[in-house]
Amino acid sequence: MSVDPRRMGTLPPAQIHPADGPIVGECRVPGDKSISHRAALIAAMADGTSRIRGFSTAGDCRATLDVLTALGVKITTKGDEVVILGQGALLPPDAPLDCRRSGTTMRLVAGLLATAAFRSVLTGDQQLLHRPMDRVAEPLQSMGARVDLAAGGRPPMSIEGGTLTGIEYRLPVASAQVKSAVLLAGLRASGATTVVEAVPTRDHTERLLARVGVPIRLRQAGGEILTTVRPADPEPFEVIVPGDPSSAAPLMAAAALVPGSDLALRGVGLNPTRTGFLRALERMGAWVEVTPSSGGPEPRGDVRVRHGPLRGLEVDRVEVPSLIDELPLLALVATQAEGVTEVREASELRVKESDRVAGLVAGLRALGADAQETEDGFVVRGPTRLFGGRCHALADHRLAMTFAVAGLVASGPVEVEGMGFVGDSFPGFLEALEGLR
Ligand code: S3P
Repeated sequence: MSVDPRRMGTLPPAQIHPADGPIVGECRVPGDKSISHRAALIAAMADGTSRIRGFSTAGDCRATLDVLTALGVKITTKGDEVVILGQGALLPPDAPLDCRRSGTTMRLVAGLLATAAFRSVLTGDQQLLHRPMDRVAEPLQSMGARVDLAAGGRPPMSIEGGTLTGIEYRLPVASAQVKSAVLLAGLRASGATTVVEAVPTRDHTERLLARVGVPIRLRQAGGEILTTVRPADPEPFEVIVPGDPSSAAPLMAAAALVPGSDLALRGVGLNPTRTGFLRALERMGAWVEVTPSSGGPEPRGDVRVRHGPLRGLEVDRVEVPSLIDELPLLALVATQAEGVTEVREASELRVKESDRVAGLVAGLRALGADAQETEDGFVVRGPTRLFGGRCHALADHRLAMTFAVAGLVASGPVEVEGMGFVGDSFPGFLEALEGLR
């Protein structure tokens, strides 16, 4: 996957020095990115004012707000509070809608635009223009929207919505983004719209829709999960977004890796479709304590992580969606764990912001790790001593954070090329990490 050289050139590499003591203290991370995208889109579909507190400061979520603004939605932002005045309908944009590097923006907004009776074009950075969008185009086309893509099912994506009919759609890939796009389109389709999943993926859209008065039904049959929505207008709402477990994850990994560490993360999202990494860390031997708090459609609470002697583990297909964005961190932790860690059936990693299997394995090997790519995942053998060196994040925020954490346990400084991309999900990540050293 190519990287936009203009972007790479503007962002200097960062040097991470080995930890000279444990990771200790407490901290809060930015609001959940997935929930923030969804809250903004659902607020835009409602007729009235919605208030979202703890909205993510991620560049990706800013892209969603800017796209909605270009569609005539009135948005005001003060700190991490976003107020959205939805009018129940969108206005045709004057120009292509720029999703920047945010795949979630493009796929979820596609669901929204499928309901609008005008033509619009979704585009983004070079990196996003390489990501597959046919997975979202296909179900929206079968609902009755006109969706056109460039060669290979890549963006730009042109969408002309209109009269939609509900469908039953079996997800060919485990993707919460595709599920959410279909469910959002289903709010304005005639009849019922059902998404069928073989393995559970994050259910933030479903939880928020239920909260805003949309008839939504979840049932299990033959080992599959069926989610059905019927046409409805979401009510305006107020919500507090919990901290993003995917942004908490690099800090947790740091605490699990550095001997003597003891880290508390406050107000983190604990939705079970997102806490696979926490469960994996525990299975690997880290000491994990979770204190849930109550309130809101999304479980949340405090998480404490302490270092412990680590061992390798196997991650199976059903677990993969619950830690998909944390798999690079899992590989890093595995380099310091006794035995073999194997992740299979995670080929989705190859079509994220970068080919994360290739980029991850190359970066870890550059530091001396025993890591191998497989077609649909990776194998790491540990423990190995990591050395200082240079890693390329491939303009991928998750790889950048993984390599930065690697710097803590390496014997010399690790230089991360493309560190600035962390702003896509966690602006201030390095400062947060520094504050715990
Ligand atoms: C997301 C779903 C996942 C995840 C991404 C955010 C979401 O992607 O990797 O970072 O907010 O729905 P897929 O739907 O492609 O699995």
